[in-house]
Amino acid sequence: MPVEKSHINIEQNTEYLKRYAFLERACMRTLSGWLPGVPEWEAKNEFGLHIWESGDSADLLYSRLRELRCYQPERGISPRLKKLVQELDYAQNSAEVIATVYLVIKKGLLEAYRNHPEVTWSDFDRPTVKITEKVLPAVERQVAWAEKFFAGIEKDYPGWEAWRDYLAGLLTADGGVTGTATPVAEPVAPAPRPLLLPWKECQRVKSWPIFDPSVDFEPDRKQNPEAHRLWRFKHYVNEMTAAETLGSILWMTPEMTWEYQYNVSRHLWDEIRHSQLGQIRVQQLGLKVENIPQVVQIYNVMMTLPAVDQYALLTTVIEPNGMPEKSANREHWEEIEDDISAAAVSYDWSDENFHIRWGKKWTPVLLQTYGYKETPEEIAARTEAWLMEHTPVRMQAKMVVDAHEKNTGRFDN
Ligand SMILES: [Fe+2]
Ligand SMILES: [Fe+2]
Repeated sequence: MPVEKSHINIEQNTEYLKRYAFLERACMRTLSGWLPGVPEWEAKNEFGLHIWESGDSADLLYSRLRELRCYQPERGISPRLKKLVQELDYAQNSAEVIATVYLVIKKGLLEAYRNHPEVTWSDFDRPTVKITEKVLPAVERQVAWAEKFFAGIEKDYPGWEAWRDYLAGLLTADGGVTGTATPVAEPVAPAPRPLLLPWKECQRVKSWPIFDPSVDFEPDRKQNPEAHRLWRFKHYVNEMTAAETLGSILWMTPEMTWEYQYNVSRHLWDEIRHSQLGQIRVQQLGLKVENIPQVVQIYNVMMTLPAVDQYALLTTVIEPNGMPEKSANREHWEEIEDDISAAAVSYDWSDENFHIRWGKKWTPVLLQTYGYKETPEEIAARTEAWLMEHTPVRMQAKMVVDAHEKNTGRFDN
């Protein structure tokens, strides 16, 4: 009887899974940092989903690694793979980000996940096979999106090939995604380039209009329900900047635990979804997204603050202050039988409950991790006062005033 081709053993399996998780997490991190930096609206929307999906895949892989008694999944990762993921951040434009994160790393992961059931002792390692089967569809869809989207933008960013070749060369030099392919010599690094992260200003396609605070007036909900609805969903479109803010926060706080990063990746995708519910609704109401003025100012002014201040401001001031208005809008839209708007805001409201909960959980940890002397109450008061002075969005300032009038006691529960 011929001897069957052997498979990887349990220790090798653990090493493979460590590398998969490490690379998923690296994709999540680089895409988060780059979310504000890519001007293309479609890319922002897709990055937002893929940041969460990469986080979710890494989390599943970590859970299997724990079952295999690996509790420190980043221990023993090769220095070259670590170098590769640091270099990923040094892309200079959308084409370089997509060509490396998707067309090198994710494509490599896709092949590895597809092969894993053949490579491991599947009969004895069913839980791992189930995990690779679970994460595979997301990465398949991500790569398919990237290939199609990339074909449409590559001409706008000449010279991306050299950067792609360098990063692909680093991965090959380290034995590929699994680390077991025949290693080759490390490629020569291209000339030094600046690190563009974190983005101080969020980028948009040049022809898109920018928000003008002086002409932003809230129509009366009862008197003018149609104008109010349109105004409100245009502001929803602009929750893209909340997602971009979270992308930079996530990128700037790598010292925090995995659980925090996993929560922030979901928070980020939720804000993308809120922007999308705005987009869906304004399109249904006859507008084009490229004609909606972009509130880039709020991202840009928040980036003058450190990451901890931004997180505290968003999750312990802006989000709690926004809740009463959402409830009022739902009630109003139900009353006038606008089921679509009511459904949209009901999911937004539901998501926000978690964002506020995460804010309460992680703000104290951030304060401690980064050596702040303030309490959560003190940083909320300080950043709220800062917001009143600096926000370009009248609605946000009004929500602060309303919250204090109602004395909602944000820290009571
Ligand atoms: Fe939101
Ligand atoms: Fe939120």
